[in-house]
Amino acid sequence: MMLKFVQDTPSQRVVFGSGSLARLAEEVARLGLSRVLVVATPGHGARLAALAADLLGSSCAGVHAQAVVHVPRAVAEAGIAEAARTGADGVVAMGGGAAIGLAKAIAIASNLPIVAVPTTYSGSEASPIAGTTDGERKITVRDPKALPKTIIYDPDLTLGLPPAVSAASGLNAIAHAVEGLWIAERTPISCAMATEAMRLFADALPKVVADGNDRDARAACLSASWLCGIVLTSGTALHHKLAHVLGGLGMPHAETHSIILPHVTRFNLDAAPDAHERLCDTLETNDPAHALGVMLSLFPIPQALREVGLPRDKIDFVAAEAAKLNITAPRSASEVEIRGILEAAY
Ligand SMILES: NC(=O)c1ccc[n+]([C@@H]2O[C@H](COP(=O)([O-])OP(=O)(O)OC[C@H]3O[C@@H](n4cnc5c(N)ncnc54)[C@H](O)[C@@H]3O)[C@@H](O)[C@H]2O)c1
Repeated sequence: MMLKFVQDTPSQRVVFGSGSLARLAEEVARLGLSRVLVVATPGHGARLAALAADLLGSSCAGVHAQAVVHVPRAVAEAGIAEAARTGADGVVAMGGGAAIGLAKAIAIASNLPIVAVPTTYSGSEASPIAGTTDGERKITVRDPKALPKTIIYDPDLTLGLPPAVSAASGLNAIAHAVEGLWIAERTPISCAMATEAMRLFADALPKVVADGNDRDARAACLSASWLCGIVLTSGTALHHKLAHVLGGLGMPHAETHSIILPHVTRFNLDAAPDAHERLCDTLETNDPAHALGVMLSLFPIPQALREVGLPRDKIDFVAAEAAKLNITAPRSASEVEIRGILEAAY
């Protein structure tokens, strides 16, 4: 196919390196902010948020450690209300995609800038895409306000990330890179980023799952996840659409991506020779779908859709919803074909 593309990478400041969290107050001030609300998930996230509040001192308007994965509507509304109540002029998101997702919902509703401090590999911090859920429906929007102005990546914060969260959020990011290689909107830059991310993850993700204290591998995974988040911004196709429909049914986000990725890859790669070649190179294999399946099988996370609680009788619904989207790149997928992918992943 003749090369044709639009490259529109939004600008974002990125501060990366061991110990960079110490620059939080300086980075907040750099954006002209003096009263930021720190958002996080409960539990470990709340401890991260307390650390941030300490570093921010008088520029912290409050801590709101009530983020929940997929950002249910009530959770978004509570965060928006807390930002208004505390008079916040910005949001600091400390944690994974759940915390960053809540910050995005607040930013969109209240027009507040975000400083993101990601501690997982899902890559949300580098995209202007925001998801919330309303009952069984997942609503995804793309809004420039949702893109954090600054990202602070401090690999030290990820040393305690449990193997299962490292594995699942890493495979979620890998899914952004793999799909980025076959979407119609791919560009030379997005493909280069996806390829570099795959090279980094292929080596470093198994290492951090085996040994969470491997500092070099932690840094490599975090930089790979940044690249994956940027790649996600270019566009999505069957893989993310399927994950979206499954997410609406309450399936766990990162685990669902991890499970379906080898199956969607097997289906799509025949029609995506450039993606096939890049994945063969970076995964050092001649069967990338198999290699992704092997990577999944070595990780301590669910391996099949039945293990994450998908009722078998929902497969027809998911296949019908995904088929309605009329995806054509890198190939079209009929309802019957999508059902086949889901059966294999089940
Ligand atoms: N919009 C986007 O571009 C985008 C991209 C990917 C994912 N997402 C969203 O992100 C969410 C999933 O995010 P996720 O996979 O990053 O997981 P998460 O944010 O749900 O975190 C998973 C768990 O890990 C814990 N945790 C986080 N960092 C930790 C650390 N350093 N040490 C110990 N525990 C830690 C959290 O408290 C939580 O319990 C979903 O809502 C998904 O929709 C959005």
